[in-house]
Amino acid sequence: MNPLAVIILAAGQGTRMRSNLPKVLHQLAGWPLLQHVLEAVYPLNPEHVVVVTGHKAELVESALASSTATWVRQDEQNGTGHAVQCALPALEGFAGDILILSGDTPLVESQTLEKFIGHHRREHRELSVLSMTIDNPTGYGRVIRDSYDGLLEIVEEKDADAQTRTITEVNSGIYCAATKNLKQWLESVNNNNAQGEYYLPDIIPMAVAAGSGGVYHHTDSLSLAGVNNRQQLSQLEKVFRDRKVEQLMETGVTFIDPDSCWLAPDVQVAQDVIIFPNVVLGVGVVIEEGCRVGPFCEIIQSKLGPGTVVRPFSHLDGAESRGPNEIGPYARLRPGSVLEPRAKVGNFCELKKAHIGAGSKVNHLSYVGDTEMGSNVNVGAGTITCNYDGANKHKTTIGDGVFIGSGTQLVAPVTLEEGVVIGAGSTITKNVPAKALAVTRVKPTYVNGWVRPVKIIK
Ligand code: UD1
Ligand code: CA
Repeated sequence: MNPLAVIILAAGQGTRMRSNLPKVLHQLAGWPLLQHVLEAVYPLNPEHVVVVTGHKAELVESALASSTATWVRQDEQNGTGHAVQCALPALEGFAGDILILSGDTPLVESQTLEKFIGHHRREHRELSVLSMTIDNPTGYGRVIRDSYDGLLEIVEEKDADAQTRTITEVNSGIYCAATKNLKQWLESVNNNNAQGEYYLPDIIPMAVAAGSGGVYHHTDSLSLAGVNNRQQLSQLEKVFRDRKVEQLMETGVTFIDPDSCWLAPDVQVAQDVIIFPNVVLGVGVVIEEGCRVGPFCEIIQSKLGPGTVVRPFSHLDGAESRGPNEIGPYARLRPGSVLEPRAKVGNFCELKKAHIGAGSKVNHLSYVGDTEMGSNVNVGAGTITCNYDGANKHKTTIGDGVFIGSGTQLVAPVTLEEGVVIGAGSTITKNVPAKALAVTRVKPTYVNGWVRPVKIIK
């Protein structure tokens, strides 16, 4: 089989977005548009992936620095044809098929691209263009066919007459071309058009004239739609969400109100999980079987172990629940929070870099940071680990079965050994040995018959 290379065009500013941010860095479901396109092409196992950047190129390249793509620059954005010309030197010596896409079509799917390339090869073509039919073709290049339904050319919106503008079959901006011809065709493209640009679709009539150009029509136009403005971005965000929710429901996930949820592309949710309304599941989220996520929760880069219940208004970022656990309502789990099975974190509690042992409870209004906590510990209401001295963070270690009375401050570094009891209202500054009771309280003073001051009226 012919080897494959990919060129992704991402040099444009995206004027119609009206933004300081380059268009391909605008996010859809938490990923930059360009990342969606890259993720769609990797499964095709291309030998090369070349991305053309230009407008704020450094920003685009650094935002996707983890990708294995080769970056090439198009310093002046003279059109899509010119952009492909800029990419070709990076493919010197490559002689297979080149798949060309835009960085602004985020819902494109690998399977569609595979079918498209397969069709191109079966038809022994030197150029194929992927088309779609849409109700509102505004902004797209229109596909012009001859009376035998064969491809003739693509006319851009701005160059089209009123009659041509009524055509609803449009160019998706995805092409497959034989390397050897592409270079030669591009040299013949001129910029005599409404935008004064070198249009990539202008190579189509050249291939057609040589009898080797054709069109492949794809019915799911939404998956090929481009983002040129904020309206289209929000429409595609919704399409993406609906599709992701649909997939998850098919695998056994309940969404009480699918329309109000927001999901990143890589979210994994197991069977028999129930998601309540207004839940945000960001990148890096794994939810295992039987969990329940209550309304108004945001979960990012976190894992919920089997049977975990997250109650309303909780915020988890970089947390791991080993399950089953109860979290919230109104809990905040920050990076490095780990809950062993049956641990509970209740209302208005904040955890950061805290390992909570099996069956331990931090149920009310507490802050636990930089802490290693054993199992079956009871942390009373309003307990604070004082982990920061203004310059450095220090660790608190709490042994198995410790009972901490309400309103306690643990001034780190400090260790409470196994079975310790801390009397309510204590400030613990020194290590407490196993099974000891520690109480630090100011001696109470009671003044009998105390007379309260009286307000002076002037
Ligand atoms: C383009 C096609 C149009 C098609 C539509 C599909 C052309 C002339 N028109 O129009 O037929 O229906 O896509 O979505 O190709 N880019 C560069 N360098 C440039 C210009 C653009 O890299 O000099 C990049 C952009 O960053 C973008 C992509 O090429 O990712 C497409 O450019 P855009 O301006 O969005 O083209 P459309 O007007 O949508
Ligand atoms: Ca576009």
